[in-house]
Amino acid sequence: MCGIVGYIGNRQAQDVLINCLTRLEYRGYDSCGLAVSGSSLEVYKDAVRVNELAGAAPQLEGTAGIGHTRWATCGPPSQLNAHPHLDCRGRIAVVHNGIIYNFDRLKQELLAEGHNFAAEVDTEVLPHLIEKYYRGNLEEAVAAALHRVEGSYAIIVLKADEPELVVARKGSPLVIGLGDRENFIASDVVALLDYSDRVIYLEEGDIGVINKIDIKIKRNGADVLRKEHKILWTVAEAQKAGYEHFMLKEIHEQPKVIRDALGGYSQAAEPLVELAGAGGTDIDSLLILACGTSYYAGMVGKYIMEELLAIPVRVELASEFSYQGQVRAGTAAIVISQSGETADTLGATRRLKEKGCPVSAITNVMGSTISRLADRTVYTRAGPEISVASTKSFIAQLVVLYWLALSYSKVDIRRLADLVMAIRQLPSKVQQVLDKEDAIRRCGQFLSGYENVFFIGRGINHPVALEGALKLKEIAYIHAEGYAAGELKHGPFALLGSDTPVIALVVRDNTYEAVLNNIREIRARGSPVIAVVGQGDEATIGQLADWVITVPRVEALFSPIVNSVVLQLLAYYTARERGCPIDFPRNLAKSVTVE
Ligand code: G6P
Repeated sequence: MCGIVGYIGNRQAQDVLINCLTRLEYRGYDSCGLAVSGSSLEVYKDAVRVNELAGAAPQLEGTAGIGHTRWATCGPPSQLNAHPHLDCRGRIAVVHNGIIYNFDRLKQELLAEGHNFAAEVDTEVLPHLIEKYYRGNLEEAVAAALHRVEGSYAIIVLKADEPELVVARKGSPLVIGLGDRENFIASDVVALLDYSDRVIYLEEGDIGVINKIDIKIKRNGADVLRKEHKILWTVAEAQKAGYEHFMLKEIHEQPKVIRDALGGYSQAAEPLVELAGAGGTDIDSLLILACGTSYYAGMVGKYIMEELLAIPVRVELASEFSYQGQVRAGTAAIVISQSGETADTLGATRRLKEKGCPVSAITNVMGSTISRLADRTVYTRAGPEISVASTKSFIAQLVVLYWLALSYSKVDIRRLADLVMAIRQLPSKVQQVLDKEDAIRRCGQFLSGYENVFFIGRGINHPVALEGALKLKEIAYIHAEGYAAGELKHGPFALLGSDTPVIALVVRDNTYEAVLNNIREIRARGSPVIAVVGQGDEATIGQLADWVITVPRVEALFSPIVNSVVLQLLAYYTARERGCPIDFPRNLAKSVTVE
């Protein structure tokens, strides 16, 4: 949700900024821009993607600069609304990720004082406020300006003739990459991988002054020290490695991702993370909160936990929990977020903490805000996920949920041993699905001709159907709905017909016969059926369905893993056939840092 970058050192800032922005584009890509300070402060911005901007921009001379790639919240994408934004004299430039709620009031005040505004965005009040409070010290002016602001921000401020950048964060992430006589700033470490593996994460309320040698950070006016961290991700992990899209690369990484997510745990008997209720009490229930694809992982988690732990599990959208969610004393909470920066999930986490509920986070990003808010964190170890549509981190989240449930399991020792053996086989099972890519690609070509699609599943595969539908709509722009198979006849049947394919997940558990009946009912209404079935069932189901995609047989509890990989590939090849911009779907951003 908007990416910001900054550089100060001895290189030409423009080249560094463009490179960093390219890596941050998954946070937003409707417009972008740069400001570079040399003999003067120069700005170039437009409502284009970063590579187009790089081709069109003149050389902006200077060794300090800031950049921005935007996901519009306030004001439509346009050249004027693109960041950086400037003060009246064009000497103070600001890039911002976040939202300023009281910008209208501030803007009226500044207009009445004679400030001139050029754009329609909330951010523009910042350079004007800084201009208003500037008395020869940029850091003090930024602090005074931010004192007036209600909302969330990560900002980088550049002023003509000043050999420093001023940064600040509240509610949006910001990380400083340390170099040799140069420093880098970005919303996310992925932007910095080419330049540094040593970083400092800013904390809430921090204001930093950064020159090419020194970094000074203050909080509430007092100096603070922030620890240096080593980044374990590599540049190679954030590149396409010959694949046409990041999404396809990330789908193919999944056998390795499962192995890495299990990591050292697969040998260990001790739990991944301690689950306890308020004040260390035994837990009698679990609450899982997340958004988007992570929410669907949480829904699968409910089935896993209820089966293996035999306690009730509630799963809620973090964005809804913030309004009126209640928590009992014996409840332990798990929050799931790939990025660790989703505003709604962070809001729900803070709310849980206020209620005294212990929170465990499952996240992919070390140093993310959620990892610092939660009492305990389990990392999914999926490596950087660049494609906006989440794939490998969803699978890694499931693996962590499985292992967490196994480590607390109430099932007998033999069943537990079987499940542990089965989870270790998942990488090879997923590889077998990937080996069927050609068949899935052909099915995607077939699907690409339709505008409405239903996905159905029962039990633990109901959330997999929801996630499959989400993938298809977000990258192929096809209206898709996921349904619990039994619910289709309570309304959606009115929409069935030859122009509405249904994708059915058929698993050999207690849902098997019911799903077969549902397929018969759907076929009777003329809808083409694509069935995803376990090995051995293809002949029987082949008589009912138009397309059959076979997956290796796995323990039913693990069927979401293999089924999800099929649906990821199906969405991918459908979108590819339709010529969609797969890694960067319209109107979406990977990290949603606004509520
Ligand atoms: C955005 C992304 C989704 C992601 C969701 C939650 O909508 O496009 O892919 O599932 O945010 O993100 P999180 O980082 O909290 O898992």
